[in-house]
Amino acid sequence: MSSSVAVAKPSTRLVSGKQIMSLLGIVPLGAYVVAHLWTNLYSLGGDKVFDEHLKTTNSSPAFIFLEVFGLGLPILVHAWMGLKIIARGRPNIGSYRFFSNLRFGLQRLSGLGVLLFLGAHVVKARILPAFGYGEHLVGGHESYAGMQAAFAEPATLTVYALGILGVAYHLGNGVWGAGMTLGLTTTPKAQARMEKVSMVFFLVLLAMGYLAIWGFHPFAQAAG
Ligand code: HEM
Repeated sequence: MSSSVAVAKPSTRLVSGKQIMSLLGIVPLGAYVVAHLWTNLYSLGGDKVFDEHLKTTNSSPAFIFLEVFGLGLPILVHAWMGLKIIARGRPNIGSYRFFSNLRFGLQRLSGLGVLLFLGAHVVKARILPAFGYGEHLVGGHESYAGMQAAFAEPATLTVYALGILGVAYHLGNGVWGAGMTLGLTTTPKAQARMEKVSMVFFLVLLAMGYLAIWGFHPFAQAAG
């Protein structure tokens, strides 16, 4: 009886595809998520503060190039590689502790959720306003009033609440995975420390997203 054992050949490549995907997830995508959530916190100051900030941050003509090549392209590459990983669908059971394995599964599931959410969000809040579709636009961008009207609909509010949960988990937990993929956390001690950092990062991202929604929501105006 012949038995064949697959022996993994050591990679001779300097950087693997997974490392490129991982790096793109941190910079520029992760960095942009933090900056975007930060900008959205201006909603807590009300309509004038938010719309004024929108005008100053998006006024440069270079902005559109940054959006297309600095964000659009990286996200397509990251998502394409992510979809290939998901399609391969190899479970990690046996290789990792139960919770680590669950986190890998949730990372993939949240990736799919983020894909759907970002698709809808980019079309509704960026592409349609850029072509003049929308009732409350400021210089071709969705304004405070537009977001407020959107969040008055329970369905839209629910989609955003879930979308932000997905993005916060995917990036927060992603930092832990990226530490290992990029070879920054090689020892169990470093990985355990990164696990705590990623948990705090997830909670901070979630709080930023939900505070911004609160700032836009009609309830916030009513509460003064
Ligand atoms: C806001 C946009 C996104 C950001 C900031 C982001 C960030 C990250 C980060 C930092 C990682 C960790 C990489 C690692 O473990 O080495 C990751 C992993 C992953 N991402 Fe994303 N991502 C985004 C969007 C997406 C989308 C749209 C998909 C589409 C399916 C996706 C699918 C995945 C998958 C499947 C993994 C895990 C790979 C594995 O299991 O090892 N991501 N992402």
